[in-house]
Amino acid sequence: MYLDMKHALFCIYLLTHLTSGQLTDSHLSNGMRKWPVPYRRFDRRPEVDPFCQALYPFCPTGDRDSRIPYMRNSDVISVFRLQAPVWEFKYGDLLGKFNIMHDAIGFRSKETGTNYTMEWYELFQLGNCTFPHLKPGVSAPFWCNQGAACFSEGIDDLHWKQNGTLEEVGEITGNQFNDLARWVQEDNETGIYYETWTARSDPSGNATVWFESYDCSQFVHRSYRKLSELGAKLTSKTQTNYTKIYLYSGEPTYLGDDDTIFGQASMKSLASDIRNFYHDFQPHQSTLDAIISIIEAYKKVVLEKNFYLYYNFQYWHLPMKPPYVRITYEEIPLP
Ligand SMILES: *[C@@H]1O[C@H](CO)[C@@H](O)[C@H](O)[C@H]1NC(C)=O
Ligand SMILES: *[C@@H]1O[C@H](CO)[C@@H](O)[C@H](O)[C@H]1NC(C)=O
Ligand SMILES: *[C@@H]1O[C@H](CO)[C@@H](O)[C@H](O)[C@H]1NC(C)=O
Ligand SMILES: *[C@@H]1O[C@H](CO)[C@@H](O)[C@H](O)[C@H]1NC(C)=O
Ligand SMILES: *[C@@H]1O[C@H](CO)[C@@H](O)[C@H](O)[C@H]1NC(C)=O
Ligand SMILES: *[C@@H]1O[C@H](CO)[C@@H](O)[C@H](O)[C@H]1NC(C)=O
Repeated sequence: MYLDMKHALFCIYLLTHLTSGQLTDSHLSNGMRKWPVPYRRFDRRPEVDPFCQALYPFCPTGDRDSRIPYMRNSDVISVFRLQAPVWEFKYGDLLGKFNIMHDAIGFRSKETGTNYTMEWYELFQLGNCTFPHLKPGVSAPFWCNQGAACFSEGIDDLHWKQNGTLEEVGEITGNQFNDLARWVQEDNETGIYYETWTARSDPSGNATVWFESYDCSQFVHRSYRKLSELGAKLTSKTQTNYTKIYLYSGEPTYLGDDDTIFGQASMKSLASDIRNFYHDFQPHQSTLDAIISIIEAYKKVVLEKNFYLYYNFQYWHLPMKPPYVRITYEEIPLP
């Protein structure tokens, strides 16, 4: 076979590139890869791409400059656990059996009587954080997957209490609150994208977790852990359960990022597999539609036993196995 110099160099490049990739992979699967893969932190939150247009404004009653009020140290701040169902899920046979909850934390100042709600959620709703857009003429799927913290004045008692939870779980000092506020702002700047799925090896208590979700309830857990680190004592009279959306798979394989997968001719078939995988799921939909798509993902993964997970702006292949996909409502105790 005749090869000119340019082709020969390209082949050598390809060989070394692919070989080193494979070596890295087997090396890592010999126990070097740390699971779960750490969620990537950024130096700062980037501007949102203008392609991503929110149907509902994010944090409409929050401070425009994202300020959190300062509390005097002599103040006593009550901490509330807030949880409410996403009501649409009461309707329809398929959805009725799931507890799909949204979680938040409330605060109330004893000195001023003012109360506040703090939560973390998608900028462009669940569908956009779970499934990408396939733009015509653009190879890489496009994600509108930012999520962020919202701190706003007021607690809507009725919303949380009537069908959910509004429970005081502790008290903190003004200084502890101000320390938490600083942490929230840093967490909000560095943790920028929403991740719907938790991927693990099986449903047992011993399972290996491959990837952790990054959603409203994870924010609540991080905040509780921070409060406990700051010295707060938190207790609940009831079981503290949270919604989790699981994928079950064998050990995942790292595939690459947008540039390596969608920017190289040699990766064409992988690129089209990923596009085909996401082709059936539409991102621009209501939360109800998003959950229906998640349930439909079940049929597709049972059939094909493949899942292409986007995590840290990189793609991973998950060799799916029973029970494939599950939505649970399980206890995660306060720290
Ligand atoms: C999802 O993103 C698309 C593209 O920006 C946008 O048109 C749509 O409104 C978003 N969906 C929601 C529910 O915000
Ligand atoms: C978090 O970041 C978003 C997006 O920049 C901003 O709108 C929001 O106010 C921030 N939240 C807090 C609590 O700083
Ligand atoms: C929060 O403040 C509002 C307005 O004053 C009040 O109606 C509500 O009961 C308060 N909720 C809590 C949990 O403090
Ligand atoms: C609580 O549930 C009832 C019955 O499903 C419903 O009619 C009501 O609107 C819910 N309340 C709130 C605040 O969502
Ligand atoms: C954890 O693993 C051990 C040993 O492999 C097994 O005996 C035990 O039943 C497992 N526990 C759970 C909760 O799956
Ligand atoms: C809460 O979680 C526990 C343990 O994870 C579970 O046994 C219980 O059934 C859950 N409660 C509800 C209401 O689903």
